Amino acid sequence: MEPVTTKNESPYTFKPNEFPLFEFLVLAKATDHFFLTETSWDKAGLGKLPEGQEIAVKRLSRASRQGLEELMNEVVVFSKLQHRNLVRVLGCCIEGEERLLVYEYMPNKSLDAYLFDPSKQKILDWKTRFNIMEGISRGLLYLHRDSSPKIIHRDLKASNILLDDNLNPKISDFGLARVFEANEDAAETRRVVGTYGYMSPGYAMEGYFSEKSDVFSLGVIFQEIISGRRNSYKEENILNLLPYNLWNDGEAASLVNPTFFDECFEKEIAKCVQIGLLCVQELPNDRPNVSNVIWMLTTENANLPEAKQPAFIARR
Ligand SMILES: *[C@@H]1O[C@H](CO)[C@@H](O)[C@H](O)[C@H]1NC(C)=O
Ligand SMILES: *[C@@H]1O[C@H](CO)[C@@H](O)[C@H](O)[C@H]1NC(C)=O
Repeated sequence: MEPVTTKNESPYTFKPNEFPLFEFLVLAKATDHFFLTETSWDKAGLGKLPEGQEIAVKRLSRASRQGLEELMNEVVVFSKLQHRNLVRVLGCCIEGEERLLVYEYMPNKSLDAYLFDPSKQKILDWKTRFNIMEGISRGLLYLHRDSSPKIIHRDLKASNILLDDNLNPKISDFGLARVFEANEDAAETRRVVGTYGYMSPGYAMEGYFSEKSDVFSLGVIFQEIISGRRNSYKEENILNLLPYNLWNDGEAASLVNPTFFDECFEKEIAKCVQIGLLCVQELPNDRPNVSNVIWMLTTENANLPEAKQPAFIARR
């Protein structure tokens, strides 16, 4: 077991000049006040600044648990990150009670809008789906490995993956992300925030999080991409998206979404199912790290280990 440290405070303190602050009135005008009523990504206020730049504005609801500290965390750290699979944070607005985040504009909405909408599922053929899985993994690798300091996202889910014009995925919504110190591998929190269904058992039940809890969420997203079904909590257990023991019995076609099942890619689809299952194993140490996931995705005839039974969480 890796050493666990307790750290509930962000290592960053707010310095007003460290990142771009937008004026409330400018954002309100640009987006026609749309963000004032909506907080979900689909309906984030979209607009154009006077200089012509297109933006998406997300208002943090007062009811949400995201506080000032988390907002600062997001803006300070993430305005410095650049990767093709991450949505750019352009700045924020803090005036009175208002907390707004300004992101680059992504016209094609979030992954869940495609995955679970029968009229849109067809847009994502297998190749596109594979490309999305690889892209999300590369964005996550950047957060875990290539960015300094290391960042754990903590709220990866289909609705936080935005698609660009070419359907390339970009990870967004860093409001719950935790910035780790150089020698820090895992942490613990008493305030579990995130989305049930995507959270690893250790995080959901005990507040432990690390790279491997993000990997767990990644595995759930893979399963949703492959099955075309939303992970849900029904029937007391999670992760019943892809029964892990059926695959080897040649049930491939019945497990994946028929709208994109393509015999030519059967082997690749089987591999992705397997990778998804490896990511959602109960014990963090059994799960691969993200570089491993990318290696498995991109290596032909990669020899993958057997997955143990996926995590099971009793409903609380
Ligand atoms: C992406 O968005 C653009 C602009 O709204 C639209 O023209 C295009 O059809 C969308 N692409 C897909 C694949 O939905
Ligand atoms: C990722 O996992 C692989 C295989 O278990 C291991 O060799 C590698 O050192 C790990 N990478 C990091 C940076 O921990």
